[in-house]
Amino acid sequence: MPTITCIEDLRVLAQKRVPRMFYDYADSGSWTEGTYRANEADFQAIKLRQRVAVNMENRSTAVELVGQAAKMPVAIAPTGLTGMQHADGEILAAKAAEAFGIPFTLSTMSICSIEDIAAHTKAPFWFQLYMMRDRDAMERMIERARAARCSALVLTLDLQVIGQRHKDLKNGLTAPPRPTLANLINLATKPRWCLGMLGTKRRTFGNLVGHVKAVTDMKSLASWTNEQFDPRLSWADVEWVKQRWGGKLILKGIMDVEDAKLAANSGADALVVSNHGGRQLDGAESSIHALPRIIDAVGSQIEVHMDGGVRSGQDVLKAWALGARGAWIGRAFLYGLGAMGQPGVTKALQILHKELDVTMAFCGHTQLKKVDRSILLPGTFPTA
Ligand code: GLV
Repeated sequence: MPTITCIEDLRVLAQKRVPRMFYDYADSGSWTEGTYRANEADFQAIKLRQRVAVNMENRSTAVELVGQAAKMPVAIAPTGLTGMQHADGEILAAKAAEAFGIPFTLSTMSICSIEDIAAHTKAPFWFQLYMMRDRDAMERMIERARAARCSALVLTLDLQVIGQRHKDLKNGLTAPPRPTLANLINLATKPRWCLGMLGTKRRTFGNLVGHVKAVTDMKSLASWTNEQFDPRLSWADVEWVKQRWGGKLILKGIMDVEDAKLAANSGADALVVSNHGGRQLDGAESSIHALPRIIDAVGSQIEVHMDGGVRSGQDVLKAWALGARGAWIGRAFLYGLGAMGQPGVTKALQILHKELDVTMAFCGHTQLKKVDRSILLPGTFPTA
């Protein structure tokens, strides 16, 4: 077992252990993958100011995310097919997040169900929802999230149509899955993953199959998704969800100042600056690049979070300094999960936390809550 010291180590191990079609699903962007790459690269361009001879003792990275205490300003983002990176993946990631003290978000397109997560954790988790044509199905989903004591609902606004990911098409990762011969051969080289999958009954979309009318298996799911993701989604629908849910509401997928203003006026509790990990609109700017403009426009009215390209504690610190109250991680935890299951997710969180804590100290701070843009070198970060 190699010594794991950074998220990249986990990525390399995950790539070895997870069947190619599922590894590629997680680790790809749409079309040219330009936005996917920019999400990471633009973090690198922002420079930190080193300060010395400042007392660094008694540091804390503790914050609140939508009013909930967290050990650091990080949340696990909703990611589809997480239970295909590792058997029972969503349960394992939720347990790791709970033990570490950060929120876990379950995707509608998860393998483990809302009820599975509730049965295996005590801390309330967040549930992500897509706007679907079948409002009865949505009401039932919202009801299930309520019954499972989810403490926030995350409504994703940027996936009413799907960005083309070349690798998924080439790998046959469609619903229904059509593994190519090469993928079948590749599966045979992943015995650890296969054993895990043989040992679980959770191998399909646990939130949908058997719960949503007309979804009985993966096959009908394909047509169901195409028919059901509602391309007419509007701000009136956001209001509809807000009314039905009645609890904390987070709007995910905001990249434009005009949309951020609408989100702030919608009465939602938070918004997430997100280009869906570079998986939707290729050619969109990176999330970290869009963040300061959105903070300056609406940061005093609504809590602003971000996702996209977060691979280190330095990234978390930069996002926080620019005003994001939460940096959500998708791939960073998926790599840990694919590499080593629950201990891998824990490892990813430990890595991010340690990097965040020590980097904050280098910048001359002991309390993350007091850190602001002054730790960033002027001219190296975008301004409004
Ligand atoms: C779903 O959210 C995806 O990006 O595949």
